[in-house]
Amino acid sequence: MIRKVQVGSVALSVHDEGTGIPLLFVHGFPLDHTMWQGQLSAFAKDYRVIAPDLTGFGKSNPLTENEYRMEQFADDLAEMLRQLQIDEPVIFCGLSMGGYIALQFWRNHRPFVRQLIFCDTKATADTEEIARGRRYIANQVVREGSGAIAKGMLGRLFGKESMSVPNPVVAATEEVMRSTAPTSIAAAQRGMAARPDMMAELSQIAVPTLVVVGEEDAISTVAEMESMANAISNARFQRIDNAGHMAPLEQPEKVNQAIREFLAHGSV
Ligand code: MLT
Repeated sequence: MIRKVQVGSVALSVHDEGTGIPLLFVHGFPLDHTMWQGQLSAFAKDYRVIAPDLTGFGKSNPLTENEYRMEQFADDLAEMLRQLQIDEPVIFCGLSMGGYIALQFWRNHRPFVRQLIFCDTKATADTEEIARGRRYIANQVVREGSGAIAKGMLGRLFGKESMSVPNPVVAATEEVMRSTAPTSIAAAQRGMAARPDMMAELSQIAVPTLVVVGEEDAISTVAEMESMANAISNARFQRIDNAGHMAPLEQPEKVNQAIREFLAHGSV
């Protein structure tokens, strides 16, 4: 189920399970494909589920570049699909940074997009203050190690219910963050700081689209995601109770049901 796919000089580690229409799950930052553990086998019954560790993350090779942009991740995914001999359009489901990458994939590889699912993400660019914060963290992580980001970020990723008890999913997420190479974290942070504002382009999205957000998401808020959904014609919008930024990991059944309904009926 896990295979290595060579993309340029990098070997991507890719979960590939099931047959049928390709359903691509792209993780957030600084995580790996295991954040989709509640979706992988559930959707592999009906789809070919492809869930890579992005360049630099999980079991894929670390990034050595100073900055790695969202369009570079998107190009890597297009090449990965070619290597997997997938030549039909995919359903692209991305969470947070995975959603920023989905937008660049849609922009630059449009014929390969069948449907879009945006989870806990946004289409706006960073404010100058947020971009500066990212560059500060990038330098700090290279100096002090990945623990610096794990400590600061964990509490913002999950909703109250997930954080209220010792939770194996939260502990596993912290472990993934701590084991990510500092150079990868720094390069992706700088890449996110440089991402373009995509709000004005959302009206051109012509494929069926689902927008999903955890009601307690502190990073991509319900209001932000609602305005993203409103800017896309006929996008379906689904809010998930008792979940934060990691809604698919926190409430897999509810998110899976939203995805299933969307895939069965298309947009609104
Ligand atoms: C993510 O979950 O991918 C990050 O929160 C994205 C970000 O830092 O903007």
